[in-house]
Amino acid sequence: MFSKETYIQRRKILTKKIGSGLILLMGNDESPMNYADNGYHFRQDSTFLYYFGVDFPALAAVIDVDNDRQIIFGNDYTIDDIVWMGPQPTITERASEGGIHQVLPTSELATMMHEALKQDREVHYLPPYRPENKLKLQHLLFLHPDHIAQKSSLKLIRAVVNQRELKSDEEIRDIEKAVDLSVEMHVGAMHLVRPGMTEAQVAARVYEIARAANCEISFPIIATINGQTLHNHYHGNVLKSGDLFLLDAGAESINHYAGDLSSTFPVDATFTAQQKVVYEMSLKAHQAAIGALVLNVPFRNVHLAACKSIATSMKELGLMKGNVDEAVAAGAHALFLPCGTGHMMGLDVHDMENLGEVWVGYDGEPKSTQFGLKSLRLAKPLKQGHVFTIEPGIYFIPELMDKWQSEGHLNDFFNWTEIQKFRNFGGIRNEEDYMMTENGPRRLGTKVKPKTVEEVEAIRKG
Ligand code: GLY
Ligand code: MN
Repeated sequence: MFSKETYIQRRKILTKKIGSGLILLMGNDESPMNYADNGYHFRQDSTFLYYFGVDFPALAAVIDVDNDRQIIFGNDYTIDDIVWMGPQPTITERASEGGIHQVLPTSELATMMHEALKQDREVHYLPPYRPENKLKLQHLLFLHPDHIAQKSSLKLIRAVVNQRELKSDEEIRDIEKAVDLSVEMHVGAMHLVRPGMTEAQVAARVYEIARAANCEISFPIIATINGQTLHNHYHGNVLKSGDLFLLDAGAESINHYAGDLSSTFPVDATFTAQQKVVYEMSLKAHQAAIGALVLNVPFRNVHLAACKSIATSMKELGLMKGNVDEAVAAGAHALFLPCGTGHMMGLDVHDMENLGEVWVGYDGEPKSTQFGLKSLRLAKPLKQGHVFTIEPGIYFIPELMDKWQSEGHLNDFFNWTEIQKFRNFGGIRNEEDYMMTENGPRRLGTKVKPKTVEEVEAIRKG
């Protein structure tokens, strides 16, 4: 946790922005796996963490803007709970670490909300993403389940996004701890991989490095020889000579800030000639994206710089043809890069995605519907304090290739005979974490993840 002044100050800013009414923020509950006492690891809601710092299940908080009151609702452990779980700080003790001095039992929350509704006061809440919080909101605010998301407060969403998206120095320090640990996870995997191992063995080593530092991972590990599948969570394959291995994994700091890195490396000690060519193309796109990072310039330009680089390289390699700018405008590059070049990162690996990409990444502007561009999570101008990933990739997805070829989709830009030679290539992604400063972009982390062919092969040969 940060000092209580941090949370007090954050709430002060939020309260001022909302102006009147009540702000209701729900914490997360334990999440059962197969029966109530056998749970997934507990993860507090990030907005709750941001404003209160209290990392404990089954809490809710109210900021009564009109009456200058801030209350955390929760129940202390009973003796039965203590017998099984051990003694715990009281909710009052936990709340005071976040500068909150009023704590009430959970049952009082309904009373307060029903009273507020009777008085026709506005209750601002965020769209819930967990079913138990949907149920709670339904009962607390007498909402029909179908209307819960729609009646959430856009004013609160925008206020939270505007505040959480600008990272303070103490947040950056925490993110850098997560990034450094993520680098260790990647380097650990790069040292470990050998033909004959399973993807699961590599994923286990990556997880072990995070857990040994008493940290969790910021999202499920992607450790695969089928890197063409963007979010491939299957770990059942055996690695063989000639395969490319794609690792996308990040640690979460003890304060729950995310790191998010991707690496691609050969299962052998060196890349094949073909792998090296495509790997260099992906690095060129990565550098093009970094080169396009400019304060107050839209991240959409960064993405398009990567797209243009990939289309240019594909043309040089003979897989694409025609005018590169026209190809990118038509979305032809998306055959190889069907997703975005990056996303915001913070307490969530895709920061605040639960509040809506259109607010987090677009400031309310509509998103493109074009294949590829529609998956770009961040497009708005980059401000000082924004933290985001840079992760263009090159993917050969046989199902997508076959579909576009059979439909003749954007045929003028493709040499299908050449493209089909790569149908079993897989996918490549390198990912790093950046922030925007008043002087331009800064790569986050004090440790550097190997990236060039030479750096990667040096580790693989070691
Ligand atoms: N690292 C997973 C993702 O960015 O979607
Ligand atoms: Mn990412």
